[in-house]
Amino acid sequence: MAHPIYLDYNGTTPHAPEVIAAMRPFLENAFGNPSSTHWYGIRPKRAVEQARRQVAGLLGCAPAEVVFTSGGTESNNHAIRGAATNLSGRGRHIITSTVEHPAVLAVCRYLEAQGFSVTLVPVDSEGLVHPADVAAAIRPETILISLMHANNEVGTVQAVAEVAALARPRGILVHTDAAQSLGKIPVDVAAMGVDLLSLAGHKLYAPKGVGALYIRRGVSLEKFCHGAGQENGLRAGTENVLEIVGLGQACEIAARDLEANQAHMQSLRDRLEARFFETLGDIRRNGHPVMRLPNTLSVSFKGLEANRILEEIGLEVAASAGAACHADSVALSHVLEAMALPLEWAKGTLRFSLGRMTTAAEIDRAAAVVIAAVIKLRKAAGQV
Ligand SMILES: Cc1ncc(COP(=O)(O)O)c(C=O)c1O
Repeated sequence: MAHPIYLDYNGTTPHAPEVIAAMRPFLENAFGNPSSTHWYGIRPKRAVEQARRQVAGLLGCAPAEVVFTSGGTESNNHAIRGAATNLSGRGRHIITSTVEHPAVLAVCRYLEAQGFSVTLVPVDSEGLVHPADVAAAIRPETILISLMHANNEVGTVQAVAEVAALARPRGILVHTDAAQSLGKIPVDVAAMGVDLLSLAGHKLYAPKGVGALYIRRGVSLEKFCHGAGQENGLRAGTENVLEIVGLGQACEIAARDLEANQAHMQSLRDRLEARFFETLGDIRRNGHPVMRLPNTLSVSFKGLEANRILEEIGLEVAASAGAACHADSVALSHVLEAMALPLEWAKGTLRFSLGRMTTAAEIDRAAAVVIAAVIKLRKAAGQV
């Protein structure tokens, strides 16, 4: 049987063939420890430094400003906890938004338990944070603002540069979680004016379990991991050479192909969206109409349950749900809840996320399968 059509690239991505090719020598032969001073250490050490240059090239920063991590979650933990701990003498107030990934929200909750105070800035019905609301939340003791670049569920892209412009004159650090935006839209740390930026390899055609944190030169964070002196003393432990090489290659490809991938994903995403809207009534798109990732389509089918649709289409299409319905309750995603999406819409929300490998034939087939499932379920529920 053929595999279902993969439309969950915001969940994770397959490995790019160039990424596999770049990693292969480090899986097969070049096993040395980059810290070794003998022959075996030379190639892995050079490879890690080349990867650091490749990541820096995509972000527009200096290689020395890149620290390798185990992924988006670790980068967010290090950025937020490391900054808060280091700056706690100056203030103990942090600003973030209601639609962040749990890897930001849970760190903030942890810090609250340690005596910090956290303001969660709301979003509007399109998932957008208004910079004026961030400005209103700033206090003399604010030390850090963490605002995601693009949302994983609905794709809304935040005005991070505007928020950074508010923060900078006040000496407040700005962190952005760019796990979802990198490789899909331009990400340039200087243009964004951020001090800290998180990225995750597996959203970018590199392996799971590797990522990086950009730390602007001059910004100091508490160490993430104590031990030997790897990663400039910030993250001790022998480097994950294999995956760091994969991440570097993925960043190089992302920089090279950004415009082509962006146009490809957007035209197919818009085609999928158009199919749904041409054929079905009682549906709505979530997220900002314009400031949105080019690959993401969050769509609500009124009156239906997301998991029922996913069961119905599961053999042919792999997508993800925005709400999980249980016997007597519905667990809405915190993002849809923050956007105040009414329950009868929210519970029937699916996220389709496309990638550079997605084809027009896949989109046409997926649209037909989803439309047939929605019509069937609505008939069964007596809605049509
Ligand atoms: C916006 C965002 N931040 C952080 C993460 C976590 O990244 P990782 O899975 O590499 O820990 C994800 C992954 O789902 C994400 O979408």
